[in-house]
Amino acid sequence: MATRNGDYMIQNGRLVPFAEARIHCLSPAVTSAVNVFEGIRAYWNDEQEQLHVFRLDEHLARLDYSAKVMRIGAHPWDRDALREMVCDLLRANAARESVHMRIHLYVDEDGFMTATEPAGMFISCVFRPRTRQSMEGCTAQVSSWTRLSDNSGPPRVKSSANYFNGRLAALQARQDGYDNAILLTASGHVCEGPGACIFLIRDGRPVTPDRSQHILESITRDTLIRLAAEMGLPTEERAIGRTELYAAEEAFFCGTGNEVTPIVAIDGLPVGSGGVGPITAALQDRYFALASGRDPAHPDWRTPVYV
Ligand SMILES: Cc1ncc(COP(=O)(O)O)c(C=O)c1O
Repeated sequence: MATRNGDYMIQNGRLVPFAEARIHCLSPAVTSAVNVFEGIRAYWNDEQEQLHVFRLDEHLARLDYSAKVMRIGAHPWDRDALREMVCDLLRANAARESVHMRIHLYVDEDGFMTATEPAGMFISCVFRPRTRQSMEGCTAQVSSWTRLSDNSGPPRVKSSANYFNGRLAALQARQDGYDNAILLTASGHVCEGPGACIFLIRDGRPVTPDRSQHILESITRDTLIRLAAEMGLPTEERAIGRTELYAAEEAFFCGTGNEVTPIVAIDGLPVGSGGVGPITAALQDRYFALASGRDPAHPDWRTPVYV
């Protein structure tokens, strides 16, 4: 099954046909990327005939934080309204398969870089099946581009403005024959991918950059740290040197979009055996089981759409 857009989106609180969603070309959202967002996923469960939105409340909390830091002005779309609209949109698109959604808050109409209003919003819905890379793994290149830092374009804020940095790294990697990129911080430590956090397995234990390493505070990262702990594998959160990438037994990207994507080679060197490692596979299995509700643990992480 190929990726395809849902027939409807929500814009400024109203259901609109996909082709009719619009932003003014002089809006600060376009001219200065005054635009924060969340990528979220909903997972279809065939047996239950149910669609579960994964960790919706945590995404909505992070959206609030990003809007606060970017000073997007007052708007009527609080968390309860957004939660309801996400489910309404999935029902309007008759979603009965797994879906990737975006919720954006931005400054619309014409205005300068410093404009804080009027706020606009949209929610989109794209049917997106699992990728080959999430099953077979991907290759990655340590980028020559440096990750943005907390004091310039704070990666902790999920702002569209930040994505030029990941774009440069991802395009360079693709041009050089790799599937994806790994960005280092200005001090040379491992940071994250263009749109995903990174974990290594070293000495049988998960290791991931700590939250002071200019990462996005990823909800998937948090999920996997908790799942690994439940599997008896406490995660080390710390600064990671570049050459640890080549010493790792396993490595994977994680994020709402990337889910758990094994990394099988870095800079042309195989990671471990060069295949999907056993800890990565076990974490990926548990992640999908929980997200889709096949595993009933952590019910507070799933918002059912059809009730
Ligand atoms: C730069 C970046 N890092 C990490 C992530 C993972 O964050 P999350 O797990 O909250 O989706 C994302 C988005 O998915 C991202 O864009």
